[in-house]
Amino acid sequence: MKVATQDRYGGPDVITVKERDQPVPGPGEVLIAVHASTVTLADCAFRKADPFIVRFFGGLWRPKADVLGDNIAGVVAAIGEGVTRFAVGQRVHGSVGVALGGMAEFVCVSEDAAIVPVPEGQDFLGLGGLSYGYLTAMPFIRDEARVKAGDRVLINGAGGSIGAAAVQLARYFGAEVTAVASGRHRELALQLGADHFIDRQEADFTLARDAYDVIFDAVGKSSFAASRQALKPGGIYLTTVPSWAIMGLMLRGGQKHGRRGRLATTGLRPVAEKLADLRILNELLAKGAIRPVTDRVFSLAEIADAHRYVEGETKAGDVLVLMPVAEAAQAGKVTMTLVPGPSP
Ligand SMILES: NC(=O)c1ccc[n+]([C@@H]2O[C@H](COP(=O)([O-])OP(=O)(O)OC[C@H]3O[C@@H](n4cnc5c(N)ncnc54)[C@H](OP(=O)(O)O)[C@@H]3O)[C@@H](O)[C@H]2O)c1
Repeated sequence: MKVATQDRYGGPDVITVKERDQPVPGPGEVLIAVHASTVTLADCAFRKADPFIVRFFGGLWRPKADVLGDNIAGVVAAIGEGVTRFAVGQRVHGSVGVALGGMAEFVCVSEDAAIVPVPEGQDFLGLGGLSYGYLTAMPFIRDEARVKAGDRVLINGAGGSIGAAAVQLARYFGAEVTAVASGRHRELALQLGADHFIDRQEADFTLARDAYDVIFDAVGKSSFAASRQALKPGGIYLTTVPSWAIMGLMLRGGQKHGRRGRLATTGLRPVAEKLADLRILNELLAKGAIRPVTDRVFSLAEIADAHRYVEGETKAGDVLVLMPVAEAAQAGKVTMTLVPGPSP
Protein backbone atom coordinates (compact mmCIF):
# COMPACT_ATOMS: atom_id res chain seq x y z
CA MET A 1 0.00 0.00 0.00
CA LYS A 2 1.01 3.63 -0.43
CA VAL A 3 1.69 5.82 2.59
CA ALA A 4 2.78 9.46 2.96
CA THR A 5 5.79 9.21 5.22
CA GLN A 6 8.61 11.28 6.66
CA ASP A 7 11.81 10.21 8.40
CA ARG A 8 12.78 13.66 9.66
CA TYR A 9 11.21 16.94 10.71
CA GLY A 10 11.16 19.74 8.17
CA GLY A 11 9.34 21.55 5.36
CA PRO A 12 6.57 20.01 3.22
CA ASP A 13 9.09 18.19 1.01
CA VAL A 14 10.19 15.87 3.84
CA ILE A 15 6.96 13.96 3.17
CA THR A 16 7.17 11.42 0.38
CA VAL A 17 4.90 8.65 -0.84
CA LYS A 18 6.32 5.17 -0.32
CA GLU A 19 5.18 1.57 -0.58
CA ARG A 20 4.75 -0.35 2.65
CA ASP A 21 3.23 -3.69 3.66
CA GLN A 22 -0.48 -3.51 4.26
CA PRO A 23 -1.25 -4.04 7.97
CA VAL A 24 -3.19 -7.10 9.09
CA PRO A 25 -5.81 -6.54 11.79
CA GLY A 26 -5.10 -8.42 15.02
CA PRO A 27 -7.74 -9.46 17.55
CA GLY A 28 -10.05 -6.51 18.30
CA GLU A 29 -8.71 -4.49 15.36
CA VAL A 30 -10.29 -3.13 12.22
CA LEU A 31 -8.53 -2.56 8.89
CA ILE A 32 -9.86 0.51 7.10
CA ALA A 33 -9.29 1.26 3.41
CA VAL A 34 -8.86 5.02 3.63
CA HIS A 35 -10.63 7.00 0.91
CA ALA A 36 -10.04 10.54 2.23
CA SER A 37 -7.81 11.96 4.92
CA THR A 38 -7.24 15.57 5.87
CA VAL A 39 -4.20 17.84 6.30
CA THR A 40 -4.47 20.39 9.11
CA LEU A 41 -2.27 22.95 10.81
CA ALA A 42 -1.78 20.33 13.53
CA ASP A 43 -0.28 17.97 10.91
CA CYS A 44 2.01 20.79 9.76
CA ALA A 45 3.13 21.34 13.36
CA PHE A 46 3.96 17.63 13.73
CA ARG A 47 5.69 17.53 10.34
CA LYS A 48 8.12 20.33 11.22
CA ALA A 49 8.20 19.96 15.04
CA ASP A 50 7.17 23.56 15.45
CA PRO A 51 6.39 24.41 18.20
CA PHE A 52 9.39 22.64 19.73
CA ILE A 53 7.20 21.03 22.40
CA VAL A 54 5.98 18.62 19.68
CA ARG A 55 9.33 16.84 20.05
CA PHE A 56 8.62 15.90 23.68
CA PHE A 57 5.77 13.60 22.68
CA GLY A 58 6.32 13.27 18.90
CA GLY A 59 9.97 12.17 19.09
CA LEU A 60 12.95 14.25 20.21
CA TRP A 61 15.22 13.80 17.15
CA ARG A 62 12.90 12.32 14.52
CA PRO A 63 9.17 11.71 14.30
CA LYS A 64 7.96 8.59 16.11
CA ALA A 65 4.82 8.52 13.95
CA ASP A 66 6.31 8.56 10.44
CA VAL A 67 2.87 8.52 8.82
CA LEU A 68 0.70 11.47 9.79
CA GLY A 69 -3.06 11.68 9.40
CA ASP A 70 -5.70 11.51 12.09
CA ASN A 71 -9.10 12.16 10.56
CA ILE A 72 -10.36 9.92 7.79
CA ALA A 73 -13.29 8.56 5.84
CA GLY A 74 -12.97 5.02 4.56
CA VAL A 75 -14.41 1.56 4.18
CA VAL A 76 -13.85 -1.38 6.52
CA ALA A 77 -11.64 -3.78 4.58
CA ALA A 78 -11.15 -6.53 7.19
CA ILE A 79 -11.88 -7.18 10.84
CA GLY A 80 -9.81 -9.03 13.42
CA GLU A 81 -10.97 -11.78 15.72
CA GLY A 82 -13.73 -10.79 18.13
CA VAL A 83 -14.70 -7.55 16.40
CA THR A 84 -18.45 -6.96 16.63
CA ARG A 85 -18.84 -3.19 16.19
CA PHE A 86 -17.86 -3.14 12.53
CA ALA A 87 -18.50 -5.22 9.43
CA VAL A 88 -16.50 -5.51 6.21
CA GLY A 89 -17.76 -3.07 3.57
CA GLN A 90 -19.10 -0.56 6.11
CA ARG A 91 -18.34 3.11 5.39
CA VAL A 92 -16.82 4.82 8.42
CA HIS A 93 -15.35 8.15 9.48
CA GLY A 94 -13.61 9.67 12.48
CA SER A 95 -10.24 9.86 14.19
CA VAL A 96 -7.68 7.05 14.03
CA GLY A 97 -6.12 8.34 17.25
CA VAL A 98 -2.85 9.65 18.61
CA ALA A 99 -0.76 6.97 16.87
CA LEU A 100 -1.87 8.64 13.60
CA GLY A 101 -1.21 6.76 10.33
CA GLY A 102 -4.33 7.88 8.46
CA MET A 103 -2.43 9.34 5.48
CA ALA A 104 -2.19 5.89 3.93
CA GLU A 105 -4.21 3.58 1.75
CA PHE A 106 -4.94 1.37 4.77
CA VAL A 107 -4.87 1.91 8.51
CA CYS A 108 -5.49 -0.49 11.37
CA VAL A 109 -7.35 0.81 14.40
CA SER A 110 -8.75 -0.65 17.59
CA GLU A 111 -12.42 -1.56 17.49
CA ASP A 112 -12.79 1.00 20.28
CA ALA A 113 -11.29 3.87 18.26
CA ALA A 114 -13.24 7.09 17.72
CA ILE A 115 -14.60 5.81 14.42
CA VAL A 116 -18.29 5.63 13.56
CA PRO A 117 -20.38 4.49 10.60
CA VAL A 118 -21.14 7.09 7.94
CA PRO A 119 -24.83 7.98 8.18
CA GLU A 120 -26.98 7.21 5.15
CA GLY A 121 -26.94 9.81 2.41
CA GLN A 122 -23.99 11.82 3.74
CA ASP A 123 -21.12 13.37 1.80
CA PHE A 124 -18.73 10.49 2.43
CA LEU A 125 -15.41 12.02 1.38
CA GLY A 126 -16.12 15.39 3.04
CA LEU A 127 -16.48 13.58 6.35
CA GLY A 128 -12.77 12.79 6.06
CA GLY A 129 -12.17 16.36 7.23
CA LEU A 130 -15.19 17.31 9.30
CA SER A 131 -14.40 15.24 12.38
CA TYR A 132 -11.21 17.27 12.99
CA GLY A 133 -12.94 20.65 13.17
CA TYR A 134 -16.00 19.23 14.92
CA LEU A 135 -14.10 17.27 17.60
CA THR A 136 -12.18 20.45 18.41
CA ALA A 137 -15.06 22.92 18.23
CA MET A 138 -17.64 20.88 20.15
CA PRO A 139 -15.81 20.84 23.52
CA PHE A 140 -15.16 24.59 23.22
CA ILE A 141 -18.72 25.54 22.29
CA ARG A 142 -20.62 23.07 24.48
CA ASP A 143 -18.33 22.39 27.47
CA GLU A 144 -16.12 25.47 27.87
CA ALA A 145 -18.44 28.22 26.64
CA ARG A 146 -21.67 26.39 27.55
CA VAL A 147 -23.37 28.22 24.71
CA LYS A 148 -27.13 28.46 25.11
CA ALA A 149 -30.02 30.02 23.26
CA GLY A 150 -29.74 33.77 22.99
CA ASP A 151 -26.01 33.98 23.79
CA ARG A 152 -24.06 36.36 21.61
CA VAL A 153 -21.12 34.36 20.30
CA LEU A 154 -18.27 35.66 18.13
CA ILE A 155 -16.11 33.19 16.21
CA ASN A 156 -12.73 34.54 15.06
CA GLY A 157 -11.37 32.55 12.10
CA ALA A 158 -14.87 31.44 11.14
CA GLY A 159 -13.73 30.21 7.73
CA GLY A 160 -11.19 27.66 9.01
CA SER A 161 -11.83 24.01 9.90
CA ILE A 162 -12.53 24.65 13.56
CA GLY A 163 -14.24 27.99 12.94
CA ALA A 164 -16.63 26.57 10.32
CA ALA A 165 -17.65 23.79 12.71
CA ALA A 166 -17.94 26.28 15.59
CA VAL A 167 -20.26 28.59 13.65
CA GLN A 168 -22.58 25.68 12.90
CA LEU A 169 -22.51 24.37 16.48
CA ALA A 170 -23.07 27.79 18.09
CA ARG A 171 -25.99 28.30 15.75
CA TYR A 172 -27.31 24.84 16.60
CA PHE A 173 -27.24 25.70 20.32
CA GLY A 174 -29.33 28.78 19.58
CA ALA A 175 -26.72 31.54 19.79
CA GLU A 176 -26.68 34.76 17.82
CA VAL A 177 -23.46 34.20 15.90
CA THR A 178 -21.00 36.78 14.61
CA ALA A 179 -18.42 35.35 12.23
CA VAL A 180 -15.06 37.10 11.75
CA ALA A 181 -13.04 36.21 8.66
CA SER A 182 -11.68 37.69 5.44
CA GLY A 183 -14.29 39.05 3.05
CA ARG A 184 -13.91 36.09 0.68
CA HIS A 185 -15.39 33.87 3.41
CA ARG A 186 -18.48 36.05 4.00
CA GLU A 187 -20.87 33.97 1.91
CA LEU A 188 -19.63 30.74 3.44
CA ALA A 189 -20.01 32.03 7.02
CA LEU A 190 -23.54 33.27 6.38
CA GLN A 191 -24.49 29.99 4.72
CA LEU A 192 -23.15 28.11 7.72
CA GLY A 193 -25.60 30.03 9.89
CA ALA A 194 -23.81 33.17 11.09
CA ASP A 195 -26.20 36.04 11.81
CA HIS A 196 -23.54 38.72 11.38
CA PHE A 197 -20.25 38.92 9.52
CA ILE A 198 -17.21 41.08 10.26
CA ASP A 199 -14.59 41.35 7.54
CA ARG A 200 -11.39 41.31 9.56
CA GLN A 201 -9.60 43.42 6.98
CA GLU A 202 -12.21 46.18 7.28
CA ALA A 203 -13.17 46.18 10.96
CA ASP A 204 -11.64 45.20 14.27
CA PHE A 205 -14.03 43.15 16.39
CA THR A 206 -12.04 43.93 19.54
CA LEU A 207 -13.25 47.56 19.39
CA ALA A 208 -16.76 46.44 20.39
CA ARG A 209 -17.71 47.05 24.03
CA ASP A 210 -19.64 44.66 26.33
CA ALA A 211 -21.02 42.94 23.23
CA TYR A 212 -20.42 39.19 23.44
CA ASP A 213 -21.01 36.39 25.93
CA VAL A 214 -18.39 34.28 24.19
CA ILE A 215 -15.46 35.08 21.93
CA PHE A 216 -14.10 31.86 20.47
CA ASP A 217 -10.76 32.59 18.82
CA ALA A 218 -10.72 29.43 16.69
CA VAL A 219 -7.43 30.43 15.05
CA GLY A 220 -5.79 31.95 18.12
CA LYS A 221 -4.85 35.13 16.28
CA SER A 222 -6.24 37.59 18.85
CA SER A 223 -5.73 37.60 22.62
CA PHE A 224 -7.64 37.90 25.86
CA ALA A 225 -6.09 41.31 26.48
CA ALA A 226 -7.26 42.63 23.11
CA SER A 227 -10.70 40.98 23.22
CA ARG A 228 -11.58 41.51 26.89
CA GLN A 229 -13.52 44.72 26.55
CA ALA A 230 -15.61 43.30 23.71
CA LEU A 231 -16.92 40.71 26.18
CA LYS A 232 -19.95 41.33 28.37
CA PRO A 233 -19.25 41.21 32.12
CA GLY A 234 -18.95 37.50 32.97
CA GLY A 235 -18.19 36.69 29.32
CA ILE A 236 -15.46 34.29 28.24
CA TYR A 237 -12.62 34.42 25.68
CA LEU A 238 -11.56 30.97 24.47
CA THR A 239 -8.57 30.18 22.32
CA THR A 240 -7.25 27.08 20.58
CA VAL A 241 -3.64 28.27 20.59
CA PRO A 242 -1.35 28.34 23.64
CA SER A 243 0.42 31.59 24.51
CA TRP A 244 2.32 32.70 27.60
CA ALA A 245 -0.37 35.35 28.12
CA ILE A 246 -3.34 32.98 28.26
CA MET A 247 -1.45 30.42 30.33
CA GLY A 248 -0.37 33.15 32.75
CA LEU A 249 -3.97 34.36 33.02
CA MET A 250 -5.18 30.82 33.76
CA LEU A 251 -2.52 30.41 36.45
CA ARG A 252 -3.80 33.63 38.03
CA GLY A 253 -7.39 32.33 38.22
CA GLY A 254 -8.47 32.79 34.60
CA GLN A 255 -10.17 36.14 34.90
CA LYS A 256 -9.59 39.88 34.88
CA HIS A 257 -12.06 42.74 35.31
CA GLY A 258 -14.95 40.25 35.46
CA ARG A 259 -14.19 38.60 32.12
CA ARG A 260 -12.75 35.10 31.79
CA GLY A 261 -10.11 33.73 29.45
CA ARG A 262 -9.23 30.12 28.75
CA LEU A 263 -7.16 27.86 26.51
CA ALA A 264 -8.46 24.34 26.07
CA THR A 265 -6.76 21.37 24.47
CA THR A 266 -9.03 18.86 22.82
CA GLY A 267 -6.74 16.56 20.82
CA LEU A 268 -5.76 14.50 23.86
CA ARG A 269 -9.31 13.95 25.14
CA PRO A 270 -10.11 10.31 26.03
CA VAL A 271 -11.06 8.25 22.98
CA ALA A 272 -14.39 7.33 24.62
CA GLU A 273 -15.32 11.04 24.78
CA LYS A 274 -14.44 11.55 21.14
CA LEU A 275 -16.45 8.48 20.19
CA ALA A 276 -19.49 9.78 22.09
CA ASP A 277 -19.13 13.13 20.32
CA LEU A 278 -18.86 11.46 16.92
CA ARG A 279 -22.16 9.70 17.62
CA ILE A 280 -23.62 13.14 18.32
CA LEU A 281 -22.03 14.37 15.09
CA ASN A 282 -23.88 11.66 13.20
CA GLU A 283 -27.16 12.84 14.77
CA LEU A 284 -26.37 16.45 13.81
CA LEU A 285 -25.56 15.36 10.26
CA ALA A 286 -28.87 13.51 10.04
CA LYS A 287 -30.71 16.63 11.27
CA GLY A 288 -28.88 18.80 8.74
CA ALA A 289 -27.47 20.88 11.61
CA ILE A 290 -23.88 20.51 10.42
CA ARG A 291 -22.22 19.88 7.07
CA PRO A 292 -18.65 19.30 5.93
CA VAL A 293 -17.00 22.24 4.19
CA THR A 294 -14.35 21.11 1.75
CA ASP A 295 -11.93 23.62 0.28
CA ARG A 296 -9.38 21.87 -1.90
CA VAL A 297 -8.85 18.24 -2.80
CA PHE A 298 -5.37 16.85 -3.42
CA SER A 299 -4.17 13.43 -4.50
CA LEU A 300 -1.82 11.46 -2.26
CA ALA A 301 1.02 12.22 -4.70
CA GLU A 302 0.39 15.93 -4.02
CA ILE A 303 0.75 15.60 -0.25
CA ALA A 304 3.58 18.16 -0.01
CA ASP A 305 1.45 20.68 -1.95
CA ALA A 306 -1.43 20.01 0.41
CA HIS A 307 0.85 20.86 3.37
CA ARG A 308 2.06 24.02 1.64
CA TYR A 309 -1.51 25.11 0.98
CA VAL A 310 -2.68 24.46 4.56
CA GLU A 311 0.34 26.30 5.94
CA GLY A 312 -0.75 29.37 3.96
CA GLU A 313 -3.62 29.69 6.47
CA THR A 314 -6.14 30.88 3.89
CA LYS A 315 -8.30 27.82 3.52
CA ALA A 316 -12.05 27.56 4.07
CA GLY A 317 -13.04 24.46 5.99
CA ASP A 318 -11.02 21.37 5.23
CA VAL A 319 -8.36 20.21 2.81
CA LEU A 320 -8.80 16.62 1.73
CA VAL A 321 -6.25 14.17 0.41
CA LEU A 322 -7.86 11.43 -1.63
CA MET A 323 -6.29 8.01 -1.73
CA PRO A 324 -5.96 6.43 -5.19
CA VAL A 325 -9.15 4.41 -4.62
CA ALA A 326 -11.21 7.58 -4.32
CA GLU A 327 -9.15 9.93 -6.43
CA ALA A 328 -11.00 9.45 -9.70
CA ALA A 329 -11.46 12.77 -11.46
CA GLN A 330 -11.50 14.93 -8.36
CA ALA A 331 -7.83 15.57 -7.56
CA GLY A 332 -6.54 19.09 -7.93
CA LYS A 333 -9.94 20.71 -8.24
CA VAL A 334 -11.04 23.58 -6.06
CA THR A 335 -14.32 22.25 -4.75
CA MET A 336 -15.40 24.62 -2.03
CA THR A 337 -18.70 23.29 -0.80
CA LEU A 338 -21.12 26.06 0.06
CA VAL A 339 -23.87 24.58 2.13
CA PRO A 340 -27.39 25.52 3.12
CA GLY A 341 -27.69 27.06 6.59
CA PRO A 342 -28.33 24.65 9.46
CA SER A 343 -31.92 24.10 10.50
CA PRO A 344 -32.97 26.47 13.28
N1 LIG B 1 -6.46 23.59 21.27
C1 LIG B 1 -6.60 22.46 20.61
O1 LIG B 1 -6.89 21.42 21.15
C2 LIG B 1 -6.41 22.47 19.11
C3 LIG B 1 -6.81 21.35 18.36
C4 LIG B 1 -6.66 21.41 16.99
C5 LIG B 1 -6.08 22.52 16.38
N2 LIG B 1 -5.69 23.58 17.14
C6 LIG B 1 -5.15 24.81 16.54
O2 LIG B 1 -6.25 25.60 16.13
C7 LIG B 1 -5.83 26.53 15.16
C8 LIG B 1 -6.87 26.65 14.08
O3 LIG B 1 -6.93 25.45 13.37
P1 LIG B 1 -7.79 25.29 12.04
O4 LIG B 1 -7.49 23.92 11.53
O5 LIG B 1 -9.20 25.69 12.23
O6 LIG B 1 -7.08 26.36 11.11
P2 LIG B 1 -7.25 26.59 9.55
O7 LIG B 1 -8.49 25.94 9.05
O8 LIG B 1 -5.99 26.21 8.88
O9 LIG B 1 -7.39 28.16 9.55
C9 LIG B 1 -7.45 28.81 8.34
C10 LIG B 1 -8.12 30.14 8.60
O10 LIG B 1 -7.25 30.97 9.37
C11 LIG B 1 -7.70 32.29 9.17
N3 LIG B 1 -6.67 33.26 9.47
C12 LIG B 1 -5.40 33.28 8.99
N4 LIG B 1 -4.75 34.35 9.52
C13 LIG B 1 -5.64 35.00 10.32
C14 LIG B 1 -5.56 36.15 11.15
N5 LIG B 1 -4.41 36.87 11.25
N6 LIG B 1 -6.66 36.51 11.85
C15 LIG B 1 -7.79 35.81 11.77
N7 LIG B 1 -7.93 34.69 11.01
C16 LIG B 1 -6.86 34.30 10.30
C17 LIG B 1 -8.08 32.33 7.71
O11 LIG B 1 -9.22 33.11 7.67
P3 LIG B 1 -9.46 34.25 6.59
O12 LIG B 1 -8.73 33.82 5.34
O13 LIG B 1 -10.93 34.28 6.45
O14 LIG B 1 -8.90 35.49 7.20
C18 LIG B 1 -8.39 30.86 7.34
O15 LIG B 1 -9.76 30.66 7.01
C19 LIG B 1 -4.47 26.03 14.67
O16 LIG B 1 -3.45 26.85 15.18
C20 LIG B 1 -4.37 24.62 15.26
O17 LIG B 1 -3.04 24.24 15.51
C21 LIG B 1 -5.84 23.57 18.49
